[in-house]
Amino acid sequence: MSSALITNAEIINEGRRFAADVLVKDGRIAAIGGDLQGRAADRVIDAAGRLLMPGMIDDQVHFREPGLTHKADLASESRAAVAGGITSFMEMPNTNPPTLDLQRLQAKYARAAQVSRANYSFYLGASNDNIAAIRSVQPGQACGVKVFMGASTGNMLVDDEQTLAAIFADSPLLIATHCEDTPTIQANEAEYRQRYGEAVPMSAHPLIRSELACLRSSTLAVELARRYDARLHVLHITTARELDLFAPGPVADKRITAEACVHHLYFDQEDYAEKDTLIKCNPAIKRAQDRAAILAAVSADRIDVIATDHAPHTLQEKAGTYFKAPAGLPLVQDALPSLFEHVRAGRLRLETLVHKTSHAVAECFGIEQRGYIREGYWADLILVDPNKPYTRERDQVLYKCGWSPFEGRRFHARIDLTMVNGEVAYESGQINDAVRGLALAFRTAR
Ligand code: DOR
Repeated sequence: MSSALITNAEIINEGRRFAADVLVKDGRIAAIGGDLQGRAADRVIDAAGRLLMPGMIDDQVHFREPGLTHKADLASESRAAVAGGITSFMEMPNTNPPTLDLQRLQAKYARAAQVSRANYSFYLGASNDNIAAIRSVQPGQACGVKVFMGASTGNMLVDDEQTLAAIFADSPLLIATHCEDTPTIQANEAEYRQRYGEAVPMSAHPLIRSELACLRSSTLAVELARRYDARLHVLHITTARELDLFAPGPVADKRITAEACVHHLYFDQEDYAEKDTLIKCNPAIKRAQDRAAILAAVSADRIDVIATDHAPHTLQEKAGTYFKAPAGLPLVQDALPSLFEHVRAGRLRLETLVHKTSHAVAECFGIEQRGYIREGYWADLILVDPNKPYTRERDQVLYKCGWSPFEGRRFHARIDLTMVNGEVAYESGQINDAVRGLALAFRTAR
């Protein structure tokens, strides 16, 4: 393993900004200090003018392997992730076949060990009939149990009341929920179909996958978590009305946490006119006032973490009509630059960005020795130039699906370098294809 000395960086870590050097050795952060310049290292990286941060830990991605690899796979999307400054990811179970038992989980870990450029973990999926697998899952075998409490891509809806109660009562791991009430959505769909036939406009998406659908389902999830004292993490909050369900404060004090996603913080319903089905996702992108309220809730510690919900589909699939186009958009490569735009506009503190994309994710899931710049921790680090503007163009996109919802958008912050376990996985537009990530390790059960 190589060693590296990163000099002259401005470090953003644990709520502080300070100048220091960082020595990386054997995959770990060996020393942090003001006077490391004489220390021996295989490589010196002069980080003058750049920010040194912990890499993002993305707690929600869909990398599509096995079975949907015409859209994406673990190798292609983990390459895009490291180019975007994401050093660890947690992957969702709505693959084909879905990840509903321990064998399929283990197969994903084995595949990731072979091909993933970033560190990885996988969710066990829930269905109406796999409670035995859920009861038997151990910390370390999965990062959590994913429950679709609303139907979305893949047929994984859990709507049986007794099954839901059993999952919340017995899951040994954190329960991560997709909350949208399917009966409410179906009633809205029927109404719009009656009015427009198949030609429902894309702008109806946030009215069909409505605020009420989100609120009903996340209210039920929170009620179940309280009743059974479950460790609940509600994914991708999209409405201001749901925010009252979550308490402000540090993750360490909470049994119920919440996530916001980068696209819900960046786009609003006015963007459907330009982006159409490319930004169709579940839950839907909603109003500008919802976006503003969610961003404020991030800063108020009511929303605990920021993730991507990277969910690629091909352009051909996306070219369908409202009902036919699948929901989901690819995001890992542009997630951090899009968040830096909020920092630049004064809507988000840089320290908060780092907290929500790394420290708080590590706390939420009990991830061992990652998510912070601390001596002894794994060296998952990124160097960011906050002022190197560019326009996202399609030819720079690394996703297998070959497009980005941010095409044509201007970003100011650029990820210059990404280190995964002390190895440079990405630097100045080049991926190091020799790097492989490790499985995330977890401290706690639920
Ligand atoms: O928009 C979405 N796409 N939401 C989901 O819940 C699933 C995801 C996908 O897998 O495509």
